[in-house]
Amino acid sequence: MKQTFKKILYGGDYNPNQWPREIWDEDMRMFQKAGINSATINVFSWAKIQPSEEVYNFSELNQIVSMLCRENYNIVFGTSTAALPAWMVKRYPEVARTDYEGRHHKFGQRHNACPNSPVYQKYVKELVTRLVKHYGDNEHVTCWHVNNEYGGECYCENCEKAFRVWLRKKYGTLANLNKAWNLEFWGHTVYSWDEIVLPNALSEGLEDDRTAFAGISIDYHRFMSDSMLENYKLERDTIKQYQPEALVTTNMMGTYKGLDYFKWAKEVDIVSWDNYPSYNTPWSYNAMCHDLMRGVKKMPFMLMEQTPSQQNWQPYNSLKRPGQMRAQSYQAMAHGADTIQFFQLRRSVGGCEKFHGAVIEHAGHENTRVFREVAQLGNELKKLNGYIPGSVKEAKVGIIFDWDNYWALEYTSGPHKDLKYVEQIHQYYEYFYKKNIAVNIIPTDDNFEQYDLVIAPVLYMVKEGVADALEKFVRRGGTLVTGFMSGLVDQSDNVYLSGYPGPLRSLAGVWVEEIDALAPEQKNTVAFKDGMKAGCRMLCDIIHLESAEMIAEYTSDFYSGTPSVTRNPFGEGQTYYIGTVCDEEALSKILNMAVTDAKISPVIDTETQLEITYRETDTGRLHFVINFKDEPQELPPQFAGERDLINDEVLKEGLQLKKYDVKIIFIKFA
Ligand code: GLA
Ligand code: ZN
Repeated sequence: MKQTFKKILYGGDYNPNQWPREIWDEDMRMFQKAGINSATINVFSWAKIQPSEEVYNFSELNQIVSMLCRENYNIVFGTSTAALPAWMVKRYPEVARTDYEGRHHKFGQRHNACPNSPVYQKYVKELVTRLVKHYGDNEHVTCWHVNNEYGGECYCENCEKAFRVWLRKKYGTLANLNKAWNLEFWGHTVYSWDEIVLPNALSEGLEDDRTAFAGISIDYHRFMSDSMLENYKLERDTIKQYQPEALVTTNMMGTYKGLDYFKWAKEVDIVSWDNYPSYNTPWSYNAMCHDLMRGVKKMPFMLMEQTPSQQNWQPYNSLKRPGQMRAQSYQAMAHGADTIQFFQLRRSVGGCEKFHGAVIEHAGHENTRVFREVAQLGNELKKLNGYIPGSVKEAKVGIIFDWDNYWALEYTSGPHKDLKYVEQIHQYYEYFYKKNIAVNIIPTDDNFEQYDLVIAPVLYMVKEGVADALEKFVRRGGTLVTGFMSGLVDQSDNVYLSGYPGPLRSLAGVWVEEIDALAPEQKNTVAFKDGMKAGCRMLCDIIHLESAEMIAEYTSDFYSGTPSVTRNPFGEGQTYYIGTVCDEEALSKILNMAVTDAKISPVIDTETQLEITYRETDTGRLHFVINFKDEPQELPPQFAGERDLINDEVLKEGLQLKKYDVKIIFIKFA
């Protein structure tokens, strides 16, 4: 067990620079009451600390840092590079972005810098150098928070030029590039590098976010993700040049589409992320995002931001109900968070976030529901310092999540516009969530041998080496679940010509001859051998059995009676192929079979509607038992007589957990 923090960081984004000096002491008093021990500062202060091209002014920042040091805070130090100062855009318009429609932007908003602007890079390096030289030695600086929520895209001329360089490196020759993008199609062959145009609304863009050449657009996504990663690395390397031991991160956004976080995770010392579900986001979805954020680095992460109460940027910014923020924080910890941090500590008076919740609300004092709940949690967390930081979670089930597939699946024109990558992954994840079966979310190049069951939904793009690795895994006894829209294209979005599902064909033991697309009002049915029937929709693969056996068949249309779900024994293991988007009942039935084949067991044997998950220290297992249901749920009998760490009391048999109740139970290894 490798521990990043000595204790749980509890705090969040703190912007005293937006407030008169008199208020700061009041802040310190109240935060102490709430058990807050960490502050994330200087996230959006570029214009303040560099008011003009030649002038740097750290005097206010010095005061903030001194105060936090006096109060013994952990400082999460922002670098301020996520919002451009006005003077820079005025003098060097190239630092601003050009959008997908080709409009070059003026000064405004944030997350607004062109990642390939040499001017932006120059000023970033200069600023970060000064910050790290000035504050790097300070022992209270626990962690560096680079930029903020990297994301978005730029389609400017600097980016176009950089894209060509990136492509030259990737493809070497134009012949390779023409072939990879299949530019013979519509006569788009290019004969010199500078004929390559970036893909936006003015070039290859089609309606509905589709594109005439998905291969180009996927490469542009890869390039944008890499460009921003280069920006991040520039800051990180600058910090490390002066402070080689510094802990450096940047806040990610869960399933955010724009950046390949598996690639990014290799460059951060610890993953941190911002969790902003909306009022109706399923709890299983939150859990999945946490598992993904743990999965990208296989390490505990920082919950860098969440709101203590409401947000401002959703369509409906509901309050978190009493107890909800607490339960949600424990859920984050259950899935790998070592910190609980809020956006933000004091609510703004103006700007678009004035209705965003904060630890200190506009009332300005501590007699609020939100403050009391924050303080309760802060004081509880003190009891968990010995258990949480660094404790790990491993699982025997791996669900593949892959950004190349995310981009490719959603760019491709046909067969169905409603097919959404994350939704599909979540449908599978939800099954395991409801069963309390622990899951790791894994990349396509993971070592599959660590798992007994690998789930690969919509593995549309099969990159080099992946099919071989999956075959090896199944041959040695693993169980694989895959299905429709899998095995179709290579890394450049060109179809495998060996019959669908391409490189997965022998592993699945089926040949898919055609793919039918069903409009929203159309349905089909999967009928299992035991008579059970359930609905299916959206896509129906028309399947021929090769070595697989049929598990279920369709019941209508011209392919009625043909297989919809199959199972193929392969080596010591087996592959399930699910040829259609199944209703929950049918999917559960199939996954039950796969779980039985793979001999997977849930965290506890008892069936329950409680969320039960765990982390492990070197000496035992920490169970998190949370009720996210409206109705009370009974404590599973195996926990009766055990001690709840939060309240330090022995749990009684038959105990009813109300909505948002949490129990944390540590059981030593035998
Ligand atoms: C993001 C940003 C924060 C803040 C919050 C509001 O996560 O990182 O600066 O704007 O959203 O929800
Ligand atoms: Zn640009």
